[in-house]
Amino acid sequence: MNKTLLILTLLCATILPTGLRAGEATETKEQRDARMAWWRDAKFGMFIHWGVYSVPAGFYEGKPVPGIGEWIMNKGKIPMTNYQAFAKEFNPVKYNADDWVKAAKDAGMKYIVITSKHHDGFAMFCSQASHWNICDASPYDKDVLKPLAEACHKYGIKLGFYYSQAQDWNNGGSAAGGKWDSAQEHDMDDYIDKVAVPQVKQICSNYGEFPAVIWWDTPRDMNTNRAQKLYDAVHALRPNIILNNRLGGGFAGDTETPEQFIPPQGFPGRDWETCMTMNGTWGFKKDDHGWKSTETLIRNLSDIASKGGNYLLNVGPTSEGLIPQPSLDRLAEVGAWMKVNGEAIYGTGPTPFGAEAGAFSETEKDKNGKPKFIPSWEWRATTKAGKIYLMVFKWPADGKFELTGLQSKVNNATALAGHKKLKLKQTKTGVTLSLPAEAPDKIASVICLEIADATPKVASAK
Ligand code: GLC
Repeated sequence: MNKTLLILTLLCATILPTGLRAGEATETKEQRDARMAWWRDAKFGMFIHWGVYSVPAGFYEGKPVPGIGEWIMNKGKIPMTNYQAFAKEFNPVKYNADDWVKAAKDAGMKYIVITSKHHDGFAMFCSQASHWNICDASPYDKDVLKPLAEACHKYGIKLGFYYSQAQDWNNGGSAAGGKWDSAQEHDMDDYIDKVAVPQVKQICSNYGEFPAVIWWDTPRDMNTNRAQKLYDAVHALRPNIILNNRLGGGFAGDTETPEQFIPPQGFPGRDWETCMTMNGTWGFKKDDHGWKSTETLIRNLSDIASKGGNYLLNVGPTSEGLIPQPSLDRLAEVGAWMKVNGEAIYGTGPTPFGAEAGAFSETEKDKNGKPKFIPSWEWRATTKAGKIYLMVFKWPADGKFELTGLQSKVNNATALAGHKKLKLKQTKTGVTLSLPAEAPDKIASVICLEIADATPKVASAK
């Protein structure tokens, strides 16, 4: 076979007909829909960033270290020995997995993703592949993932593991910005074979029905060969697992992961999840009090759901094992809203309209030189068969809500809070709702429109 033909053959072998990347399992649309179903219905999850970095909590040698808390070893260029000493103070005696899972459930969250090993390499489980773990290197000496898995099983919450597969600043993995301690020098393939693959196998084997998700991160120095080893290790143990798009090596994964922002129009045709902090850091920092308001959190959730995405909202527990009170307060307030309005979020599809989210500026550019998206925060919409949910942020002063473009017949309109039927008038150009003077909810009042069509008919945007 001549050289050109050989290259062509190899190329064809890697671009699979389903458009998947090389080395990813093939499946039919029906199989993928079945595998993704729980995640697509869930819409709202808790991210937990927890580890040794919660001991320094943003400070080193008495000085604040700028940046996100879980990066303190890197941003502070802390030598391995000095950083590993922090593990001796990591003793989360106040950790109660049941309380954490209950807080997530009461917030309306349906899944949890916790850092099993972050970029500092500290395993939150009794790793056989490295002594740099909670059982061997900390006084706590217990796996914290196991009680969490048990509580998730008890409360019917799915559990996923974040795993930093490439960066590992204490086990010889990669380091963004370059290594800063000669003791970190190590062969990347040896780290992958001796630490990452065995640890991923371990976290995919010891927790009953979980993990349901593996959340890879920062695929630095990840080539196809290294990524394939990790992909195969996970898939052999958990063929139905959901993987994000951060493995590296050209693996697409199942979900896009916009971080700290909501894509203006979502990712049409792709599952996606915006992950966000509740303040300014993923891992705990004792001086970060920049908490987002509950209004922002609920409107973010509504915005994300209206674009067809999931919201993975982070908490960063302390080294004592406590979720910060400001996080718990916000989770409880979001939960109170979800108790009344959750049907407008869970299992919904994206808005049939779109313009309500905002528009691209004709004059302003974003940091990439593209037209800047100017969001509008008046209302959002989600859909279910035969229903449209309106999440109204700005309650009309004149008591009239104009929904132009809807062509489907509206059979009735109900405010979810108090189940109050609303008067409506429908014309060829849309429907006008007569609203009570007071908004049922000061953050987002939800109105359910029951329509005659399974899928809403909307006049196409001009
Ligand atoms: C970034 C940060 C990492 C954090 C992740 C959450 O990749 O490097 O610390 O865990 O965002 O999405």
